[in-house]
Formats: sequence, structure tokens, C-alpha cells
Amino acid sequence: MRSLAVLLSGTGTTLQNLIDVIAAGELPAKIAVVLSSNPNAYGVIRAQQAGIDVEIVNRKEFNDPVVFADAVNARLSRYDVDLLVLAGYNHLVKLDRRRNIPAINIHPALIPSFCGKGLFGDRVHKAVLDYGVRFTGVTVHFVDEEYDHGPVILQEPVEVRYGDTVDSLRSRVQQVEHRLYPTAIKLFVEGRLRIEGRTVVILPRQKDEGGRMKDEKRSNE
Ligand code: GRF
Repeated sequence: MRSLAVLLSGTGTTLQNLIDVIAAGELPAKIAVVLSSNPNAYGVIRAQQAGIDVEIVNRKEFNDPVVFADAVNARLSRYDVDLLVLAGYNHLVKLDRRRNIPAINIHPALIPSFCGKGLFGDRVHKAVLDYGVRFTGVTVHFVDEEYDHGPVILQEPVEVRYGDTVDSLRSRVQQVEHRLYPTAIKLFVEGRLRIEGRTVVILPRQKDEGGRMKDEKRSNE
């Protein structure tokens, strides 16, 4: 079973969705640890309620973002995880080259629009509405060491409607997020993502010797 570390800074709706999807048996993975950069994040309470180990590395206790990122990695190194899942985590990650653990992120817009340093959460939706675009959306991408920059795994557009507010837009975007993130994580868990330059190739599901898809149940099982 693949093991995840979820990193967050805020309310943790993304974490809650992952907890629920895993509990429903729809994502074959385990959340080994939730790391929060904010001791008061509601996501911490959600993790505790689900019985998941929590680590706090308080961003406010660090002047230097690189020292902070190193402290995050040091804390995560206590856990055996296969993937870092950023879930409303508002800081740059320093990839741990020694352990070579990939990281993915979800962004509430269509990258490369409305993204980058300082554009997270409701600021994204406000920028979308201020600009007047007809479509926004959701992007799941691998993380590199720039904000919202690594290779794109999945994207889906969301229409912006006349009269939309930050609240109404966030709510429709989140419905898509809650489907797209588990889908992307499942593809990773199944070993079906291959990075070629900036392109992420989604590999077909593997068949077993009997020609069945690997996760297909036999009728007599
Ligand atoms: C989501 O919009 C997600 O795209 C972004 O953070 C927001 C959710 O925050 N990365 P949270 O999970 O409710 O803390």
C-alpha cells in the first residue's frame, strides 16, 4: 500500500476529501502523516480526528524560507512515504533529492494562468473574477522548486458564470478538485504516470496474465 504525506496550511478541505475517499475504498493509499505549517490550521484537527499522525513546523518561527523547507524535510524524513501531497500548502517545497520522493500539488485555476507566488486559495478566484475570464479550472501537477510550475498531470476547466462570487466559484471549483486530486493520486499509486520533459504521459492500466485489468475482480472472488 502506497503511503502519503499530506502538507497543508489551512482549513484542510482537500485533506478531508482524501480521508473520505480512502475510507470509501476508492483510493488504495494510506496517509502516514499530515504536516502543517500553521499550528492553528483546522486541517490539524481534521487529521487528529481521523487518527493520523500530525507534525507541525510553524512557518512563523523561521525567517529563512530555505531553512524552513529543510526543517519540513527533516520532520518528514521520520516517515516512510512514497509521495508528498500538497493540500492547501502555501510554501515552496524543497525536494528531498536524497530520498527522491516526488510531490504533487493541486491549484484552483488552469496553470499557467492565475498562479505563482502569492496566488493561492481565494486570491486565485478573486483574480479570475477581476480579470473576467470565461473559464477557470483545476490543475494537478508535479511539484518542482518554483511555485505552480512542474509538469501538469490533470486539468479540467470550470465555467465562470455571470454573477459569480468568490464563494460560488470556489464551491464549483472544489467539486472538481475533490474528484481530480484522488484520480491523479490513484494514477501515481498505480504507477501510471511517466514524466517526459514537461509532459506527463498517462500509461494504460496493466493487464494480468488472464487479460484482466489488474484491479478487476474475478467473478468467484
Ligand atoms: C484548494 O483550492 C486547493 O486548490 C488549494 O488550496 C485550496 C484548499 O485549501 N491548493 P484547504 O484544503 O481547504 O485547506
